[in-house]
This record gives sequence, structure tokens and C-alpha cells, in this order.
Amino acid sequence: MPALVLTVNGTVHDFVAPAEETLLSVLRNRLDLTGTKYGCGEGQCGACTVMVDGQAAFSCQMAVSEAVGKKIVTIEGLAQDGRLHPVQAAFLEVEAFQCGYCTSGMIVSAAALLRSNPSPNAGDIVGALAGNICRCGTYTRILAAVEQAARKKSSK
Ligand code: FES
Ligand code: FES
Repeated sequence: MPALVLTVNGTVHDFVAPAEETLLSVLRNRLDLTGTKYGCGEGQCGACTVMVDGQAAFSCQMAVSEAVGKKIVTIEGLAQDGRLHPVQAAFLEVEAFQCGYCTSGMIVSAAALLRSNPSPNAGDIVGALAGNICRCGTYTRILAAVEQAARKKSSK
């Protein structure tokens, strides 16, 4: 098995793993970053979404070897200096979840959207979150939370 070096949430990790092991498996089982969820394992639900070089990506569909040399950000890495990311804060304020299983993936996808488009309209948000499934059906509140986060971010 090859020795791999992965940068996750600004920390460099050295470990040995099969090159074809999924990034999701490495995050959860080797690095103990369990905020990223295993949903379907087939690229159909978005529960495993992380940022790879600033873009939302399904970590269940990426071999860890593909992630080497890239900047990975998980839900655990979004807060800065003890302050929640605006999307995290808005999800809490709006209570945009029920069971919470989809929440980390939703938040990471929304955070990636706001990086590239700080003032998205409702269509932009729905499009960016199209790959994230909420089995509890909290879509209305999720949309409201992302709109709130965008408003607060752009008013700063
Ligand atoms: S667990 Fe990756 S898309 Fe469902
Ligand atoms: S809050 Fe339960 S899956 Fe979205």
C-alpha cells in the first residue's frame, strides 16, 4: 500500500492506504472526521460532500489518490477562529434540518456555492444543491438558510 499525504482542513496527514480507497472512507475511518456522512455510496445523495480545491465533490466517488495534492475541506473545517461559517450559523437559526443526516453535505455544498457566487438567487441555490438529497424534506428551510447566509455575507 502506498504512503499518502493529504491536506484536510489545513492539516497535513501522512498515512498508508490503498490508492483506490475512497476519500470518504479515509476521512471517516482513518482521520476520524466523521462529520462527512456515508449515505448511498453511489453518488446519488450528497451526504458525503466535501470541498476539493473549493469545489463541492462527492467523497464517496473519489479515490483518495485523486485527492492528494488538493485542499480538502470538510464540515469540521468550515468554522474559522471559533466562529461558525455563515451557512452553519444560518442553518442553526432557521433550524434547517430534522434528522441532520444530510446537513453536513448540504452546508458544504452551499458554502462552495457562496465561494463562487456570493449573491445566488433561488434558482442558483436549488441548482447547486440538486445533488444533495434530504429524506426529511426540509428543502424550504434549507433554501431559506442559504439565502440568509448569502444576505449576511454580502452585507459585511
Ligand atoms: S454517500 Fe456519496 S453521494 Fe451518497
Ligand atoms: S434533515 Fe434528515 S435527511 Fe435532511
